[in-house]
Amino acid sequence: MSKSLTIIETRGLTRRFGDVTAVDAVDLSISTGEIFGLLGPNGAGKTTMIKMLTTLLPPTTGTALVAGFDIERESARVRGAIAYVPQLVSADGSLTAYENLLLFARLYGVPRKEREQRINEALEFVGLLESAHRVVRGYSGGMVRRLEIALALIHRPRLLFLDEPTVGLDPLARQSVWQHVRLLAEQYGMTVLLTTHFMEEADTLCGRVAIMNRGRVTAIGTPAALKLGIGVAEATLDHVFAHYSGAQLESEGNFHELTRTRRTLARLG
Ligand SMILES: Nc1ncnc2c1ncn2[C@@H]1O[C@H](COP(=O)(O)OP(=O)(O)OP(=O)(O)O)[C@@H](O)[C@H]1O
Ligand SMILES: [Mg+2]
Repeated sequence: MSKSLTIIETRGLTRRFGDVTAVDAVDLSISTGEIFGLLGPNGAGKTTMIKMLTTLLPPTTGTALVAGFDIERESARVRGAIAYVPQLVSADGSLTAYENLLLFARLYGVPRKEREQRINEALEFVGLLESAHRVVRGYSGGMVRRLEIALALIHRPRLLFLDEPTVGLDPLARQSVWQHVRLLAEQYGMTVLLTTHFMEEADTLCGRVAIMNRGRVTAIGTPAALKLGIGVAEATLDHVFAHYSGAQLESEGNFHELTRTRRTLARLG
C-alpha cells in the first residue's frame, strides 16, 4: 500500500567523477504529490542527483526506482513518466513559444491530433497564450522559465524535476513560478522535486526538504521540524542550512558558539 505512494526511492545511490564522490550512498524516499526541495551548497551533488534520477547519468553504484521503474534497466519507461527542466535554459531562443512546444510535443510522441490542444492548454496554464507567437529571445527571464515549465508539461508527466527554477528572476516572476508549481501539485497531483539556493523559496513551497553536503544527505524533514530540531531560537531555514551544510564544517567553533549563545538568550527570555 505505502509502496504505490512512493514515487522516488533511492538505495545507496552513488556517483563518482574520478576522485570526487558527487553523490555518496544516498537513501531517499519521496511520495506521490510531494513538493520536495533539495538544498545544499554549490557542489553538494544536487544536480548530479537529478541527472541520475532522470536517467541522464548512470550511477556508479546503488539503485533508484522512479515512478516504479529502475533508472538503469527501465530508463525509457522512467523518461516517459517524468519531465526535467535543467539548471541552464533549455528553450530555443530563435523559435516562438508555440514552435518550442510543438517541437517538444513531437519529441515526446504526443499524437498529432492532440498537439494543438495540449499546446494551447500548456500556454494558458503558464499565462503565455498572448505571447505564443513571439520569438523567445525577446522574452523576459520569468517568461522563459514559465515557458520551460510548459515544455515540461506537454507529455503530462507524473513527476517534474526543476533544477533552480527561479534563479535570476525578480520577486514577482519568482512568485509566479511558485504559484504554478503549487497548482501542479494540488490540481494534478504531480510530484515535484526541485533544487534551490533560496531558503525562503524552500520554506514556502516545499512540504519537505533534504539538505545535501558533499554528496550526503545530512538532514531531511519538513521545514518546521528542521527549524525546531537545531535548537536555535526563532530559527529560519537559513540557520538550518548553515547547521547542516559546509558552513558548519568551515567555521564549526563559531557556529556552535553562536548556537549556544542563542540558546542561552532564549532561556533567559
Ligand atoms: N561531469 C562532471 N565531471 C566531473 N565532475 C563533476 C561533473 N559533474 C559534477 N561534478 C562534480 O560533482 C560535484 C557535485 O556537482 P553538482 O553539479 O551535482 O553540484 P550542485 O549541488 O548541483 O551544485 P550547484 O549548487 O553549484 O548547482 C562537484 O564537485 C562537481 O564539480
Ligand atoms: Mg546544480
